[in-house]
Amino acid sequence: MTSLTPSKITVNGERLWQSLMDLAEIGAYHDERTGLHGVNRLALTDADAAGRRQVIAWMEQAGLAVRIDQMGNIYGRREGTDPTAAPVLTGSHIDSVATAGAFDGCLGVLGGIEVIRILNERGITTRRPIEVGIFTEEEGVRFGTDMLGSAVAAGRLTVEYAHALTDRDGRTLGGELARTGSDGPVEVRLDAPHAYVECHIEQGPVLAEHGVEIGVVTGVQGISWQEITIHGRAAHAGTTPTHLRADAGLAAAQIIVHLRSLVDSGDYGDLRATVGHLIVHPDLTNIVPARAEMTVDLRNPDDAQMARAEEALAAFLNDLEGSQPGLSLTTRRMARTAYVPFDDGVQKVIAQAADDHDLAHVSLLSGAGHDAQEIAALCPTAMIFVRGEYDGISHNPREYSTPEACTHGIDVLATTLLRLANQD
Ligand code: GLV
Ligand code: MN
Ligand code: MN
Repeated sequence: MTSLTPSKITVNGERLWQSLMDLAEIGAYHDERTGLHGVNRLALTDADAAGRRQVIAWMEQAGLAVRIDQMGNIYGRREGTDPTAAPVLTGSHIDSVATAGAFDGCLGVLGGIEVIRILNERGITTRRPIEVGIFTEEEGVRFGTDMLGSAVAAGRLTVEYAHALTDRDGRTLGGELARTGSDGPVEVRLDAPHAYVECHIEQGPVLAEHGVEIGVVTGVQGISWQEITIHGRAAHAGTTPTHLRADAGLAAAQIIVHLRSLVDSGDYGDLRATVGHLIVHPDLTNIVPARAEMTVDLRNPDDAQMARAEEALAAFLNDLEGSQPGLSLTTRRMARTAYVPFDDGVQKVIAQAADDHDLAHVSLLSGAGHDAQEIAALCPTAMIFVRGEYDGISHNPREYSTPEACTHGIDVLATTLLRLANQD
């Protein structure tokens, strides 16, 4: 360590907050249901492209050397004193779901840039380079596979697979990268960093329940996404006797209820199941639905229990086909990740940093998916969680973490990065 290196650093919370609020203006919309301002910045839309341009400008103003890869992943690099040392990477995503708040992903990216600004202002050098990453299509809600950019960077998925994915209007991810000018020339596969640390809002109630500010994240639970298409037969609502119907809408409803019964049975551990997308065709009052399309999102911290839940669903779908004359089903795998444990050593550095900032912390597993779970395949990785208000609600415009909570999380990130970046 150089004599210029302090043992801990605190960031400029007001500047961090202003950047969060400024980015939230890009893709802002009025949410009728909550009466609040929300954010809709689906990956590789015009709004996302505008957000990317803004954040790249902030990176460049902070002196970062920016490079963009063939997935549109963005990296900003601050050199260290040892040009041969692998960098410490931080970051997250700025794409959002359609009903987002200001914090999901953005805190980790803008927090990373705030750390760089503070290091610059205070003239602090580090042995290792520090890089701030922004990963494309973390949410997975536009092109159907979550953590997509980081999964390709880590080598779990191929660029060809990712570029060929389509949105609901049939537009390819590769085409949208090019259309929005979001693609770059750099090879996607990332050389192993020294370590990766991501700060993110918790998106749940655990930290508030414990009355603490900081979560040290032990890992991420497994995620299973599939699309189910149910093929029935369009028929007249008034004249078609019930026993002659192949009602795709009925089958969709049965699947939803069955998923809930799997959860409520307690037989599959800590299973969560969600049907967040359901549409029937032709979608008219007096026609028995000919087709239903739906997605199933399963989460489970235990890989064996997850596999059992998937098998139970598959068996149910098999039986359902025979339950109405002429009904059939097809399924398509969208995404699948196992439970990912985080590195003990990085968790210890985070916990020590929280202690040194006098911030109480607990260790917890992440219920949400994060880019960190992909980068964990490349290097020691862990995450810092920041407490949310209103039971930690997220993927909702009501998502909110206080300026103090955000600042505390990025203080811990700053000190953690500083220490990791001075490791041998
Ligand atoms: C990411 O937001 C997820 O779906 O867990
Ligand atoms: Mn996120
Ligand atoms: Mn999210």
